[in-house]
Amino acid sequence: MKFLVTGGAGFIGSAFIRLVLSDPPPKPYVLNLDKLTYAGNLENLASVAGDPCYRFIHGDICDGALVNALIGDEKPDVIVNFAAESHVDRSILSPAPVFETNLRGTFTLLEAARAHQTPRFVHISTDEVYGSIELPYQANEDFPLRPASPYSASKAASDLLALSYFITYRMPVIVTRASNNYGPYQFPEKLIPLMISNALESKPLPIYGDGMHIRDWLYVDDHCRAIRAVIERGRPGEIYNIGGNRALTNIEVVRRLLQAVGKPESLMKPVADRPGHDRRYALSSEKVMRETGWHPQVSFEEGLKRTVDWYQSNPAWIARVKSGEYQSYYQQNYAGR
Ligand code: NAD
Ligand code: TYD
Repeated sequence: MKFLVTGGAGFIGSAFIRLVLSDPPPKPYVLNLDKLTYAGNLENLASVAGDPCYRFIHGDICDGALVNALIGDEKPDVIVNFAAESHVDRSILSPAPVFETNLRGTFTLLEAARAHQTPRFVHISTDEVYGSIELPYQANEDFPLRPASPYSASKAASDLLALSYFITYRMPVIVTRASNNYGPYQFPEKLIPLMISNALESKPLPIYGDGMHIRDWLYVDDHCRAIRAVIERGRPGEIYNIGGNRALTNIEVVRRLLQAVGKPESLMKPVADRPGHDRRYALSSEKVMRETGWHPQVSFEEGLKRTVDWYQSNPAWIARVKSGEYQSYYQQNYAGR
């Protein structure tokens, strides 16, 4: 089995590569195509860098010639498309790269996979495409798409494009839509790692609006196990929601992580809300559980403990990713809020 993973140097892609390369023999062969944007970090893959079953290719999924030659030469059995501009706040500040990678990049990959008849194409997407969900509903795969940010709109558009390749060309495309992931190696722009790293430095923790927005938290390794189950047992042309079934308000999440690092709640600082901020995400994962047998294994308590322990044990990783570009992003997003 040969995988072409895109965006494998990011948070979830690197967890997926570490997971499949730790499988018992016969191990898959993994090609990782990554542009190494601010979010891509080869340190996340240090544990597999010397593995003969792994190869890194530095490149852009929007580069048609590169992608076409790679897929034509390597003939992967599966393409797993993680590569994306993945952050809502950055997509609000600067939407152009979001549409370039998330939409044109996905299109470029789909075209190359179509030309070379790749047997399986798994497009990794998000519950944010459904937009804010009213209580007490949970979105299943047939829910209407109501993306509210440039990020979620670009993901919804790329999902529909990928699915159109199944309908039109009978390409074996599968789309997965996961809820908010957390775990080790997550870039500290997203809620949990940002709050942990600020708390470790006793810096203020910026809570958008009233902090009562609800997210469904999924431990990253559970997400990766679900993707592996979908590759093995999912049906072409289908969408699979993957949720953690753990809904919490942002305030509650931050309270728990402050407790875990032993810092006071007074570090929380309400700041101006995010424009277009979705109030609540809620997913039904009934279909992926029924069809593949997957279910989440890591409780929020256990996952948060593992995550906090990892950040506490890896100050050098945090310091490196927070140097340089991160500082100007932080200023731009938080100053004057
Ligand atoms: P991330 O930002 O940590 O990593 C993205 C990776 O993609 C980086 O390694 C980056 O260098 C690479 N990349 C960006 N543009 C590229 C391009 N043009 N060509 C090649 N590589 C490129 O993101 P993540 O959190 O690991 O998310 C991975 C995927 O999962 C994304 O598609 C995202 O939409 C989806 N997703 C994320 C979450 C979440 O909570 N993080 C939840 C659901 C779905
Ligand atoms: P985030 O991790 O950016 O994921 P998403 O917006 O894709 O769900 O944010 C999770 C929640 O946390 C969201 O409701 C926004 C909120 N948030 C804050 O309150 N402060 C912050 O500094 C960040 C980054 C997020």
